[in-house]
Amino acid sequence: MLVLGIETSCDETSASVVRDGVDILSNEIASSLDLHKKYGGIVPEIACRYHLECINYVIKEGLDAAKTKFNEIELIAVTYGPGLTGALLIGISIAKALSYSLSIPLIGVNHLYAHIYSAIMNGIEIKFPCVGLVISGGHTVLVSVLGYNNVKLLGQTRDDACGEAFDKTAKVLKLGFPGGPIIEKEAEKGNPHAIDFPRAYLEKGSFDFSFSGVKTALLYYVRDTNLQLTPRHTSLDFARDRRDSSSRDSERPAKSKGFSRISPAQSFRLCKEMRGATYPSTYFPRLRSGQAGLPAEGSRANARGNLQLNDVCASFQKAIFDVIVDKAISACIQEKLKQLLVGGGVSTNKVLQAMLKDRAKAEGIEVLFPKDALCTDNAAMVAGAGYRLYKEGVCSDYSLDAEPNLGLG
Ligand code: KG4
Ligand code: ZN
Repeated sequence: MLVLGIETSCDETSASVVRDGVDILSNEIASSLDLHKKYGGIVPEIACRYHLECINYVIKEGLDAAKTKFNEIELIAVTYGPGLTGALLIGISIAKALSYSLSIPLIGVNHLYAHIYSAIMNGIEIKFPCVGLVISGGHTVLVSVLGYNNVKLLGQTRDDACGEAFDKTAKVLKLGFPGGPIIEKEAEKGNPHAIDFPRAYLEKGSFDFSFSGVKTALLYYVRDTNLQLTPRHTSLDFARDRRDSSSRDSERPAKSKGFSRISPAQSFRLCKEMRGATYPSTYFPRLRSGQAGLPAEGSRANARGNLQLNDVCASFQKAIFDVIVDKAISACIQEKLKQLLVGGGVSTNKVLQAMLKDRAKAEGIEVLFPKDALCTDNAAMVAGAGYRLYKEGVCSDYSLDAEPNLGLG
């Protein structure tokens, strides 16, 4: 069965064609992330305008890359929550229009459920019941997965989401946005035991999380030690900016099976081509090497300051992950479950993956992560999860609405 997945819950506009829930024929992702960077977080209005501009183009690319036509699609799966209301509505509206005009069923998919499903998109058999962990920019949720359509909530964050704590901390450290990949990179050269940041385990036996304490402790540490901080873009930004602007090939979205990422510059040019529209040049800024992406001359902190920054990042990351790993593994032990599915943007972090694998192995638990390209928001996981739910008899009608605060279980 060929399913067209649509994902527009936050800053990624994505369309994907997936066969039988696991065979990813295309997974096109356009991201407005670069447009939000200077604000230090996602600006809903910008995200929504971007979705509107590129959604048609991204869907067309999703079909083309999968060498599929609309009349071959048998089901439309779309994220209906949680997320930004306006952003969700754009995906839902186009999904309804396609479902109606093609006379094929529509299914609304919970974004959190899709993140969990992404861990088994390589075809590995799920052993029900198992434990699911979503660690993303908006959510930190631990569930017991009893069946494809049956999830029981075990715990969730009481304040910041895990990715949100990374993003806010990176802002305090003047490292840029999004914080997760930057902190992971900085932490590589740091000592995770250098600073003893607090771990919030909460009440005995609780599977809830709280990350505001460690975030505040880091803020005080920076203030009290007068840590040298210099605003800068990271080498990660630079590498990507250069890729965006230096080669003509990079202007064309990859057509190969699998995953391609469309830059704002590409989307802007292609949307314009498609619709003959014109926009101010600042709307989709073209990043050029030597400008936005380059660290300013002499901007790096001195050797000592740099070392401290690496240690702060490594210690912060360890404090967060110690709690996540402990709670996820304890949930498996308490529920007597032997499989742990992890998804969401933070699950791409290699330190977390290593920590979880180590602890899981010691307890005889199988832990599964999505491929890197499926960790952050994408439509393949929506198409895959939608297929599974459809097979369980779930289907949506045209009253499907955005549910910005949708939870799990
Ligand atoms: O799943 P996602 O793309 O969006 C939401 O559904 O929220 O997750 C984005 C989040 C951001 O907060 C980002 O900082 C975090 O995932 N993230 C990471 C890493 N890569 C992305 N956090 C820690 N380490 C990473 N390598
Ligand atoms: Zn997500």
